Amino acid sequence: MNSIPSFAHRFFRFLPMPSPAIASLADRSSSSRASEAIARKARFWDRIARKYAADPIADMAGYEATLQRVQGLLSTDQNVLEIGCGTGSTSLRLAPCTRRLLATDVSAGMIAIAREKLAAQPVPQLSFDVADADAAAAGQGEYDVVLAFNVLHLVTDLDRTLELAVQALRPGGLLISKTACISEMNPLIPFLALPLMRAIGKAPPVLFFDADALRSAIARQGMDIVSVERHGTRGKDIRVFILARKPA
Ligand SMILES: C[S@@+](CC[C@H](N)C(=O)[O-])C[C@H]1O[C@@H](n2cnc3c(N)ncnc32)[C@H](O)[C@@H]1O
Repeated sequence: MNSIPSFAHRFFRFLPMPSPAIASLADRSSSSRASEAIARKARFWDRIARKYAADPIADMAGYEATLQRVQGLLSTDQNVLEIGCGTGSTSLRLAPCTRRLLATDVSAGMIAIAREKLAAQPVPQLSFDVADADAAAAGQGEYDVVLAFNVLHLVTDLDRTLELAVQALRPGGLLISKTACISEMNPLIPFLALPLMRAIGKAPPVLFFDADALRSAIARQGMDIVSVERHGTRGKDIRVFILARKPA
């Protein structure tokens, strides 16, 4: 997204009225740059997708508490969008409570596994798609609920992702998120372990914030914060669950 503009882009930028041929070249160049940026972002997750799918959930009781909480907020007349759905385990559990759940992820590897799971365990309300939560999506104002589990600390631009999520919601719609707050961890992790892991390709880029900062970022998009909760059952819980409503 913030990559250095290519020569072609810089050249076309200064043409006031591009001819259709040049415009289409420029379009192609900008769309291929966009897909390169998405591919770059997805590469880490594509690489670890099979391992991620096989890893057990660390705090199963906390996970189940969140699922129960979210199931209580969903209903079968709602259209739901999930961003950063990973391999779709949570989507498969939640989709039966909705009219339609579109679950998206930037990683084609994650979505391929999610589709395998869906084929093995069909849920008619559920579909999966590859999409970047940092990029504009179709269907503005179309969703009753947007779900974001364990992804908001991983996007490139938190404000942009939240802005797009809020745009996708109809007035009165809900944003339901659960997010690791890296700033609440022992400082050795963000300042020593994570940079080392990143250097050897074992960790993705992450954003550092605490629950208050995330809450403020959601409120900055004009959302009313309904509830801030923690569902963890093992030790210090750095994952904050935030429920917010778009004003009607
Ligand atoms: C830690 S996993 C969480 C997956 C799932 N939501 C869960 O709770 O198990 C993070 C997921 O976010 C996805 N992701 C990271 N950046 C993203 C972005 N900009 N847009 C969409 N998905 C993204 C990754 O591909 C990965 O599948």
